[in-house]
Amino acid sequence: MVMTGIFDREDGRARHASPELIGRGWESARLDSLLERSRLVTVVGLGGVGKSALAADAVERVGRTGTTVVAVDMAGFNGVEQVFHAVGRSSSEALLLVDNCDRLPGPAAAALSRLLEARPGLRVLITSRRRLGAADETVLPLAPMQLNDAVSLLELRARQLGTPLPDNEEARVTAGRICLRLDCLPLALGLAAGRLPDRGPRELLARLSERGGPLGLSGVGTDIPGRHRTLRHCHGWSHELCVAQERLLWARLSAFGGTFTRTAAERVCEDEQLSRPEIATAVDGLVGQGLLEHVNERPELLRMPRTVQDYGAEWLTRLGEETRLLERVLMWSRGLL
Ligand SMILES: Nc1ncnc2c1ncn2[C@@H]1O[C@H](COP(=O)(O)OP(=O)(O)OP(=O)(O)O)[C@@H](O)[C@H]1O
Ligand SMILES: [Mg+2]
Repeated sequence: MVMTGIFDREDGRARHASPELIGRGWESARLDSLLERSRLVTVVGLGGVGKSALAADAVERVGRTGTTVVAVDMAGFNGVEQVFHAVGRSSSEALLLVDNCDRLPGPAAAALSRLLEARPGLRVLITSRRRLGAADETVLPLAPMQLNDAVSLLELRARQLGTPLPDNEEARVTAGRICLRLDCLPLALGLAAGRLPDRGPRELLARLSERGGPLGLSGVGTDIPGRHRTLRHCHGWSHELCVAQERLLWARLSAFGGTFTRTAAERVCEDEQLSRPEIATAVDGLVGQGLLEHVNERPELLRMPRTVQDYGAEWLTRLGEETRLLERVLMWSRGLL
């Protein structure tokens, strides 16, 4: 059976149409053009940043041109058999969406390379928190939303929940501050909007401003995947994908409280557990997952999104390293390291 449209992974039922995207005009256009030029495109970025939403939207456009589209959601799978199964059912000219491919980038890369060789009419779109590492993979890193779009999304979700934000300047400023506190992450904005009926924007902002405040925001609904129930689950999923050095560095870098240079990261975080070369590699690994961002595209200057920092800070406390790291950051800032 040839399938067109987007299909549910288990029973082949048509899934609901992708929800309308807010913003992302530039990213959508970029993805369309990459899909025309490359047979293997991977959208990568932080958990909840909107990779699956962007991909579903692009795939729907391709489907409307009459091309066969097959989608497989890998979130619950640890093997590549699902991919072969899905491809086996597609026609010779097809676009395959392999969504949420986080858990098996290595094996998936090898399997997809073989598939692409065997099926010249096949194109593949992946979403994953990190790149696959396949030879001819084109990577589209997806950053958090623009602030204006994030505010529009929060307003939309508030309206949908029957508690529209007040139409005044103060409410708009508060909404903007909520979005910034939540790194303009669409997942977090949806979770936060769920609290607006009880709390209202000002009280919500006050709660979020507390240390670690955003991590416990929880969503309701049985169709929410486990990793999207709270931001703690969301970043925890990334934490599990990290290697040991990346996890330790993530915790330690949270002590900077925002922006820092690579050199500062190396000097402050190095010890017998984590050497400078290991730190350099781990920084690249964290950047690759969107857990660190370059500031103004300067390779030396790095920033950790605030909710990622919240998550790292919890680990730093758990590791018993908080006081030591805060002291080291202070010493660095005074030129003593
Ligand atoms: N541009 C957008 N406009 C409206 N809603 C969005 C947008 N981007 C994402 N969302 C919503 O935000 C939530 C998280 O998005 P999505 O599932 O695409 O994130 P993701 O990056 O794929 O996360 P993960 O890494 O966990 O798979 C979803 O409910 C999605 O519908
Ligand atoms: Mg996804």
